[in-house]
Amino acid sequence: MTAIQAGANSGSRGRIGARLRDRYLEVVASIYLYNEYRGYTALDRVLEAARARCPDEAEFIAAVASHRDDERKHYVMFKRWFERRGSMPLSVDRSCGHIDHFIQRVFGCKIDELDTSAVIADGSSFERLCRVIMLTEQRGFAQVEVLLRNRLILADPVMTRIFTIIHADEPSHFLPYQHWLERQGKSQGRCNEKIADWSIHKLLMLVKLPMLFFNRGAGRLVDWPDAGEGLTV
Ligand SMILES: [Fe+2]
Ligand SMILES: [Fe+2]
Repeated sequence: MTAIQAGANSGSRGRIGARLRDRYLEVVASIYLYNEYRGYTALDRVLEAARARCPDEAEFIAAVASHRDDERKHYVMFKRWFERRGSMPLSVDRSCGHIDHFIQRVFGCKIDELDTSAVIADGSSFERLCRVIMLTEQRGFAQVEVLLRNRLILADPVMTRIFTIIHADEPSHFLPYQHWLERQGKSQGRCNEKIADWSIHKLLMLVKLPMLFFNRGAGRLVDWPDAGEGLTV
């Protein structure tokens, strides 16, 4: 092999590597964008439930409101990441949503079908909801630590910055629910809920993410998920 051929081969390997890395980043960012959007819109309903269920716990309610605002901030960071690239996210639906699967398994319905007034009326339902959020956020924290050791993520400075911010925010997302449950003297997560969390995580990482990565025909969003909100950040 001549030096010119060797150079051409390594150049082509480099281009393939760059394309695969780019694909991986947009798959990760698309899944996160969906989950952040799902997170803050679902938290609007949790906030409503918290205000009605524990009106005297101003600190807890403020923590839930702050959590909601953080998830919106995370969503906007991924949106900006795509805007810088000049592309829209890959179409991701609720099958890639950790909280969607979790609510379905624990409450037997979709998030949108969750009866907020029933959750407010029933103390054990509200506690279950708090445990689902706490476990989801703890899972999110652990996953971001994994991503911050991933060389594909670290090769993208903006993506690294986004996950560094998320990592810093995450403890304030699960600790308020954990402390609230401790104050009620309630379980920190039941065995079946921990198994559900673990199996959903495996499903997303080992099945859903690779399927989206290899699905070359996967479509892209036409509109941003928050297009109807009329908000700018
Ligand atoms: Fe988030
Ligand atoms: Fe979070």
